[in-house]
Order: sequence, then structure tokens, then C-alpha cells
Amino acid sequence: MPLSEESTGLRAGSGLAPALGEVLKRYLSGSISPEVALMQMLCESESAEAVQHAIAIATTECPEHAEIPQQNLRDRLDAISAVAAEHEKGCARIARMLASGVDSGEPAKTIQEGLAFTERLFDWSVRQSEEASVALYSLGDPGVLERATAEIVELFEQWGVLGREKSVLQIGCGTGRMEAALSPLVGDAYGIDVSGEMIERARCKCSEFANVHLSKTDGRDLSMFVDRMFDLVYAVDSFPYLVQSGAALVETHFQEVARVLNPGGNFAILNYAYRGGLAEHNQAIRGYADRYGFTVTVEGERPFKLWNGAVWRLVTFRADRGTRGCARVLRPAAFTQEDPIGLAEGSIVVDLPAQQSYKRPLSL
Ligand SMILES: C[S@@+](CC[C@H](N)C(=O)[O-])C[C@H]1O[C@@H](n2cnc3c(N)ncnc32)[C@H](O)[C@@H]1O
Repeated sequence: MPLSEESTGLRAGSGLAPALGEVLKRYLSGSISPEVALMQMLCESESAEAVQHAIAIATTECPEHAEIPQQNLRDRLDAISAVAAEHEKGCARIARMLASGVDSGEPAKTIQEGLAFTERLFDWSVRQSEEASVALYSLGDPGVLERATAEIVELFEQWGVLGREKSVLQIGCGTGRMEAALSPLVGDAYGIDVSGEMIERARCKCSEFANVHLSKTDGRDLSMFVDRMFDLVYAVDSFPYLVQSGAALVETHFQEVARVLNPGGNFAILNYAYRGGLAEHNQAIRGYADRYGFTVTVEGERPFKLWNGAVWRLVTFRADRGTRGCARVLRPAAFTQEDPIGLAEGSIVVDLPAQQSYKRPLSL
């Protein structure tokens, strides 16, 4: 059971920088892992020394003030101190990456500018640290990144979206850690990225896997793929950069994902944006989902232990023989009387008898 943030004993005026204190409260209340807490403190301070100092202050302060059993707090402070000590060099490197000012959360003025910025940022990042370039919370440690990757694979397995007959695509594949992990579990694993240097690393990492296909993209759309080619399209921490490049780019990608997915296919977005809150992200995703015929079946959940990524699962409508299904009316004029479709209360009801085949693809 997570502790409440108020009962962590961390108080203003303790010499702890307020922003770091907030992160530590979240960590001590059990909401985030030590790795994510360290990453968030590094993002706030851009200094590994400041983070060490904050942990030292918290270690002295907490036992004095905490209203809850001390042992949990002590255990958690010991755990974060140990992770920080083990990753001293990684934390220092990440602090330098953040302090360099190469990254910027500012929205781009045009799609072209946004994509050029993303390409430069990730070409540069992967040269600093292969692991940190795709996940700062890895603290530059391949072992941490492997654990985080395993959590995502496990989620996809729970959803039942993997299998040797499945073809999957990752938008923004980075160094190919997901493709390497998914290769034995799917038929074909495709990955695209705007960063040429990321694609080079991914090709190295996945060189032994014949069913992994990696390509550099201009980042504008999925035009290199034919319709209904994939069973799963997913994006791990890449949508924030699409969002940063502008709503038009996000809109195109939803439309494109709907086009390249098979009926009943899945679209998984792991982290949608770095700005704004979950409610805002949910609303934006629901809007796109409605426009492009997806049903949102998982909405902004945070299912992982190590990584605090928020997850959306969107499923395309499937009309098999013998299926009765329902979807919102988007373009009712596109349906004719000959089609087995009835309109009811703003929904399209599709009722296909088992013996009757239905040839025309449903494009909602
Ligand atoms: C934080 S990294 C994550 C990489 C990978 N998904 C992972 O989790 O290991 C984000 C990646 O998305 C890529 N990216 C951003 N915008 C993109 C776009 N429009 N099309 C393709 N890749 C994009 C970046 O180049 C970068 O490699």
C-alpha cells in the first residue's frame, strides 16, 4: 500500500530544494521507482551533486518528522542511495547531457523544424549514451534498460498481441531494444526512426535477427508501408516528440496507423506527451481515436514497476463473419443501403450472419 506523500516527513525549510523535495516525496510515498526518482531529480537540477545532497538531507530529516513507521522510509532511502551510488557515473553523464541545453521541450514552429530538431537531438544523444538516449531513467545502465524492456514485453504478452503469426511496427524504434526483445515472439518486427544514428545502432543490435526490419524515415507518415500490414503498431516514448512537432503530425500518424493496421489490430502509445496532464492527454487521444475508428481500451494507466510510462491501448474495429459490433458514426454518408449496416442512436451496428461474407472493407 503506497504511503501518502504528506506522511513522508519531508518538509519545506529543511534545506532541500523544493523541486527535488517534491520528487522525493513521490518516491517515498511509493509512486515511482528509485531510477525514475533519480531521473526526475536530475531533470530538475541538472546536477548529480545536487541529487546526492538532496538524498543526504532527506536521510537526516525523514526519521525526525515522519508520521508513519520509520522502517519503510529508511528502506526506501537506503534503496535510492544504493541506486545512486551504483550509478554515480551514469547520473553525472545524464546531468551533463541535460545541462548541455541540446534538448528543449519547446513546441516546434513547423513540422519540418520539429523533425529536424528531433533528428539532431537523437543523433547526438545516442553518441553520449546508448541506454540513456532511449530512456534517461536507465541511468546509462544496460541492466536497468533490460528490466524496463521486459516490463513492456510482459504487458504486450498479457494483452495477447504477440505471436509468431503477427507483424508489428514500432514508430521511433531508437536503438532497437524492443525489436531485439520481440524478435523471438513475433513473425516480423519492423522499426522506423528519424535518427540515422539510432537506426545504425539498432541495425548493429539486431543484426542476428532475420525477422527485424529497420528503416530511417522522414518522420512525416507511414507511407513506406502498405495498408493492413500490421497487427500491432506501438510507440514507446516517441509520441512526445511528435506532439512537440505539432498536432498536424500527430493527426497524420493516427490516420496512418489506422490505415496500416489489420482489422482488430492494436495501437499502443506508451507516453503521449511530456507537457500537460493525463486528463488532457486522455482527451486528445479520445478525439483522434474517434476520428480514426479506434476504441480506447486502456486509458492512461501506469502499469509498470520500474518505468512510470503512461499507457494507452487503442483497438481497430473488426468485422468478421458472424460478428455483431458497434462503432460511432463518423461518415454515415459513406455507407449505402446495400451494405449490412444500420444506424442507431449515433452508432453503426454491424450485423453479419455467419453464412454471409462481407467483402467491402469497413473504413470508419
Ligand atoms: C526516447 S527515444 C525512444 C526510443 C525507443 N522507442 C525506445 O524506447 O527504446 C524516442 C525515439 O523516437 C524517435 N522519433 C521521434 N519522432 C519520430 C518520428 N516522427 N518518426 C520516427 N521516429 C521518431 C527519435 O528519433 C528517438 O529515437
